[in-house]
Amino acid sequence: MNRTGTQRIETERLILRRFTAEDAEDMYSNWASDPEVTRFLTWPAHSSVDITRAVLKNWMERYRDGGYFNWAIVWKKTGSIIGSISVVKLLEETEAADIGYCIGRVFWGQGIMPEALRAVIRYLFETVSLNRIAACHDVRNPKSGRVMGKAGMIQEGILRRSGRNNQGICDEAWHAIIREDWEKAQKKG
Ligand SMILES: CC(C)(COP(=O)(O)OP(=O)(O)OC[C@H]1O[C@@H](n2cnc3c(N)ncnc32)[C@H](O)[C@@H]1OP(=O)(O)O)[C@@H](O)C(=O)NCCC(=O)NCCS
Repeated sequence: MNRTGTQRIETERLILRRFTAEDAEDMYSNWASDPEVTRFLTWPAHSSVDITRAVLKNWMERYRDGGYFNWAIVWKKTGSIIGSISVVKLLEETEAADIGYCIGRVFWGQGIMPEALRAVIRYLFETVSLNRIAACHDVRNPKSGRVMGKAGMIQEGILRRSGRNNQGICDEAWHAIIREDWEKAQKKG
């Protein structure tokens, strides 16, 4: 594994970059304060921008660590940040990562997260040299499973009562892509 940390990534419509202290207001108003966005997430919607500031401060301190991967998603058309995508768990022994993501409600349904996830998967395989990238969603939040499928992950199974989010204890559907599958898909084009 290469400990390259959170580096800038560009896609057709997006820039993925590190968060900065200046992002607090946009992060708060565009997604972090919306309980509809955090419905199936593990953290509560922020009740004030000061909470967002404190979260950002913590994230920024961690960027020094080459094993820390957490990107702000920038919508190129306006230059504003609309969400985040990150490695929520890095398993160095097996060279694997679990991914989490969210974007603001007004941006849902435009294929934005699949575009971001595909780019992060590419970065984690090509640059960081991981072997497995996984993600899970509450079975009551199937649209997140659609994102995983569009990014080439396949569902491996449902772990019953294995997670906890703002809805309580839940069944989690796990999806993953392994290096061999990704390389095969690249060759096919
Ligand atoms: C889940 C999420 C990341 C999807 O991102 P996205 O960029 O909207 O992804 P897509 O455009 O590919 O849409 C995914 C699915 O959402 C559903 N969807 C699309 N537009 C929607 C809308 N306006 N409202 C509700 N659901 C919608 C569709 O089922 C779609 O799948 P389909 O295109 O195959 O029909 C986004 O909804 C989100 O941030 N949700 C809140 C946070 C969250 O749940 N994160 C994942 C935790 S595991």
